[in-house]
Amino acid sequence: MGTVYDWLRGLHILAVIAWMAGLLMLPRVFVYHMSAEPGSRMDQVFKDAERRIFSIILNPAMILSLVLGLTLIWYDATYMRPEGWGFLKKPWMITKLAGVVFLLGWHHFLGRSRKRFAADANTRSEKFWRLTNELPFIAAIVMVLAVTTEFGN
Ligand code: HEM
Repeated sequence: MGTVYDWLRGLHILAVIAWMAGLLMLPRVFVYHMSAEPGSRMDQVFKDAERRIFSIILNPAMILSLVLGLTLIWYDATYMRPEGWGFLKKPWMITKLAGVVFLLGWHHFLGRSRKRFAADANTRSEKFWRLTNELPFIAAIVMVLAVTTEFGN
């Protein structure tokens, strides 16, 4: 059945998949939303979709990723790493945590942007949403390779 650590890692990866899905999905919906006439039925459909993506996918998945990630930090330090909490200072882990800080910031930025779309007050261009949509995936590449390679260990 695997160890507690195996389960924690598996659940952490699943939560992160859901978080990433939401982070990549919401700006795509923003782009489609911008072609809808304000006040139209489609405008309302996009507003509802954005609210649901945020409350049903993004927020719960972010909280689960964070809780499981912090539990992994505690489990790692207590049972798995000979250097204990010292692993937090390793280059690969600092890189991973920098990615976490970035994704949390991006998540909050998307939340504020969603509220602006809901109030018909989006000020950013379609190009902005298309270009920045690559950022969370770039962060994910860096974070996943940081934990799998443990570079600089
Ligand atoms: C939300 C805050 C997060 C925290 C506090 C956190 C923390 C951790 C910790 C402590 C580990 C175990 C490292 C080890 O000793 O092997 C881990 C594993 C992992 N994390 Fe995260 N993480 C977070 C978010 C993420 C995100 C956003 C991604 C991907 C984009 C990610 C991908 C992974 C992967 C792929 C593993 C490897 C699992 C394995 O060991 O097989 N994590 N995380």
